[in-house]
Amino acid sequence: MNRVFFKGIKGGTGTTSIIANIATLLAQSKHSVLCIDLDPKNELCLHLGHQWHNQIGWSNKAIDADANWSDSAFINEDNVKYVPFGSESTNTFALCTLLNQSKRLNLEANSWLLFDVPSHISLEELPLDENDLIINIVTCDAGCYSQIKKGHSGSNGFYLINRFNASNPLELDVYQIWRANLNQLAPFFIHFDSSVPEALAAKNVLINCSPLSVVKEDFQALASWLNNKRKSLSNSL
Ligand SMILES: Nc1ncnc2c1ncn2[C@@H]1O[C@H](COP(=O)(O)OP(=O)(O)OP(=O)(O)O)[C@@H](O)[C@H]1O
Ligand SMILES: [Mg+2]
Repeated sequence: MNRVFFKGIKGGTGTTSIIANIATLLAQSKHSVLCIDLDPKNELCLHLGHQWHNQIGWSNKAIDADANWSDSAFINEDNVKYVPFGSESTNTFALCTLLNQSKRLNLEANSWLLFDVPSHISLEELPLDENDLIINIVTCDAGCYSQIKKGHSGSNGFYLINRFNASNPLELDVYQIWRANLNQLAPFFIHFDSSVPEALAAKNVLINCSPLSVVKEDFQALASWLNNKRKSLSNSL
């Protein structure tokens, strides 16, 4: 099983949009994919075409040794399985229990387990393994720049630029500084495309709604990069 934690280094960088698209792409390529929403906003459901009135998720299930929250998994038309956050409040202990239980799920070998981590959760407090991948989502702006400059704690993960618009001089400056200095920067980025929010308005994802877009190619680059990382991690263990 390949666990990947996607986390914005601040709110609104596009984490949930990226997970919904990459999960759909991987599932359409016949991978087994389970997304788990760690964000009480429950927005991943919206991208995945979920019935909005159904508010049951892992937080509503008793967190016990039987891992019965996995019964809350839904499956959409693209074969993406997902577990919503739900409607109960939780704490760090519940999150730790959930992550430990996720390792014991009866999933196909090489399944992808994708976590939508809201920016306020500190991954340092959670029981991650050395073969877990952390992808910090950033945008080329002063807010993310200052977070990284002041020593953002995502040093054990990779950085992925989203919503990039090279015709904006400020974004280009930030991009060039990071490209020269940020060791863990992914070797590609996700372009800005207004089709991303438009797809959400249709309760769907860009890769379904704009299959010929450049951003779909960006997500394909992300999928092959994740596959390569998975292979190199399993070879090194
Ligand atoms: N590549 C992109 N191009 C254009 N718009 C994008 C792109 N990625 C995300 N967006 C838009 O940015 C906004 C924020 O996206 P999203 O909700 O996925 O971010 P988030 O990091 O999950 O936010 P939050 O911190 O609130 O959970 C949405 O309107 C989304 O449609
Ligand atoms: Mg989100």
